[in-house]
Amino acid sequence: MSDQPVTERRNFYGRVHGKTLRASQKQYLAEDLGKLRLRGVTVEENPARAPLDVVGLFRERPLWLEVGFGGGEHLVHMAARYPEVEIVGCEPFVNGVAMLLGKIRAAGVENLRIHPGDVRDLFDVLPDGVVAKCFLNYPDPWPKARHHRRRFVTPGYLGALARVMRPGAEFRVATDIPDYVRQTLEEVPPAGFDLVARHGAGEAWDDWISTRYEHKALREGRQPHYLTFRRKV
Ligand SMILES: C[S@@+](CC[C@H](N)C(=O)[O-])C[C@H]1O[C@@H](n2cnc3c(N)ncnc32)[C@H](O)[C@@H]1O
Repeated sequence: MSDQPVTERRNFYGRVHGKTLRASQKQYLAEDLGKLRLRGVTVEENPARAPLDVVGLFRERPLWLEVGFGGGEHLVHMAARYPEVEIVGCEPFVNGVAMLLGKIRAAGVENLRIHPGDVRDLFDVLPDGVVAKCFLNYPDPWPKARHHRRRFVTPGYLGALARVMRPGAEFRVATDIPDYVRQTLEEVPPAGFDLVARHGAGEAWDDWISTRYEHKALREGRQPHYLTFRRKV
């Protein structure tokens, strides 16, 4: 199969392509994505949805996951800060994947793998209890009430996330949307998580790095919220 980012057959409502890629970004996609892309995640490569060999793939190291990494600044920052873990980032937006690849070249990190598609593809093929930490930074807000069911913090996504997370593993959510905070606090605990911390602007996690969407939110006068959950033991 091609090493171009893929989209899957399931409903994905976000953008997959943005403005025209720069020549350098096309080069990163052509030269680097093939090496960094996680194999066996797409339906085309793994139609039987056989579980990934997580131990072999990730060298018996803790596996972390970032959902919707956008331009990849947080993902690369975490990979550089925690060289002893392996981090997988999922992002269907091709321009975001290209931006991440540029940052990986600049940072020289080697503990990061990419699924250039929907995180649900990965949920399908991860064994139970293997993810030791998960980041959900500025998920798509879907502000209209009739679209709230598209949010990540709904039972379909959260049930799948709970299954793949290790008991006691941390799940971090950052958002600038008060109604997203409300829904997160309502939906995440029944999926099998305990709320352990809730902070506001200026009180992010010690190892946090601000993302493109956080910058945008602050510029537009919206305040960050940082929620920390733990998978029930
Ligand atoms: C508002 S942006 C935030 C990007 C980045 N985390 C940040 O803070 O700058 C949300 C991102 O989530 C991605 N996304 C939405 N649904 C997703 C899914 N099912 N799997 C993986 N990524 C998804 C979108 O493509 C988009 O890039």
